[in-house]
Amino acid sequence: MKNIRYGFIVLIVASVNFCGAAYIQKSSVVTATPGLKDYYKDYFPIGVAVSGRALRTDEAGLVVGQFNSLTPENAMKMGVIHPEEQQYNWRDADSIAAFARRNGMKLRGHTLVWHNQAPKWIFKDANDQQVTKEILLQRLKEHITTVVKRYKGIVYAWDVANEVISDRKDEFYRNSLWYQICGEEYIEKAFQWAHEADPEALLFYNDYNEINPDKRKKIIQLVNGLVSKGIPVHGVGLQAHWAINEPSAAQLEKTITDFLTTGLKLQITEFDISVYPKEHEMRARQLEDSAVAFTAAKEQQQLEQFRLCFDVFRKYRHSLTGVTFWNISDRYSWLDNFPVRGRKDYPLLFDKELQPKKAFWAVVKF
Ligand code: GLA
Repeated sequence: MKNIRYGFIVLIVASVNFCGAAYIQKSSVVTATPGLKDYYKDYFPIGVAVSGRALRTDEAGLVVGQFNSLTPENAMKMGVIHPEEQQYNWRDADSIAAFARRNGMKLRGHTLVWHNQAPKWIFKDANDQQVTKEILLQRLKEHITTVVKRYKGIVYAWDVANEVISDRKDEFYRNSLWYQICGEEYIEKAFQWAHEADPEALLFYNDYNEINPDKRKKIIQLVNGLVSKGIPVHGVGLQAHWAINEPSAAQLEKTITDFLTTGLKLQITEFDISVYPKEHEMRARQLEDSAVAFTAAKEQQQLEQFRLCFDVFRKYRHSLTGVTFWNISDRYSWLDNFPVRGRKDYPLLFDKELQPKKAFWAVVKF
């Protein structure tokens, strides 16, 4: 499992909608200098993935000053928000939603069905045996309906299905437990149930390695298939976990124009630029994985890669409806532990002291 953080477990009160919660406070934060969101106000919202904890530290000021959209990094994932059949843990998700509302920010929901960070109970019956398709789909329906209804009117877009496509050349769907038990049906049902729970929410299919032509083709085939069946899919989320060595400008433009053939809106949903060449599999630390990672040369390469990406993003601003960074600053990134556990990465626009890096200026001066 990737970076997961469990908070308090609060017993389910399914009928309470988040928006009705009494503790939402109103306040306004005035920032003196323009942030990313201001430079990009005529282009697209600029979002960031956060934890409830980060929003209670000095990072909160940076978040409010720079971004106008939030995504809970982990708080709405099934394993965190629904750890046991009869228990929902709303604490962190609610606090992030309250922060977004208080500060007039958009909120993306992430994610309703995923093979990772799914709770074990959902696949098992009382005798620890694997459940049937009927039961699993019923549980998924209950989960999606409860979570989407709670954040109705505050979450404007959901990553409904995450990473259901396989990276293997010989495989279309990822061979997850969801797929093994339900076949592909769970994907369409997830979109339908999310739409029933909140007909206003924009529903996204979200995946990584989208710059790879084979994977991209499969993602496009998936969403086209869903749309042609009348399934409510409104957008494709390109995770954009990229690196100093990829993508090239041509590869990125080709990626975007290929996805545009679907006629759907696109969002960059989990943007970061690792200072290490891209690897997609977890591996052990090796001697060459030097501790002094953020050299001047890497800083420059990263700056150029950030500039390249934003140049292309701006070019496609009429089709891109959001760019979200995956984490706030180099103080913490999921890449500190992936693909090499304990190898520090520096993949964002703000340094550990929360100051803008040189790459920040490359992104906002255009
Ligand atoms: C995937 C998921 C995210 C997150 C990242 C790593 O991209 O969609 O939720 O877990 O991996 O943080």
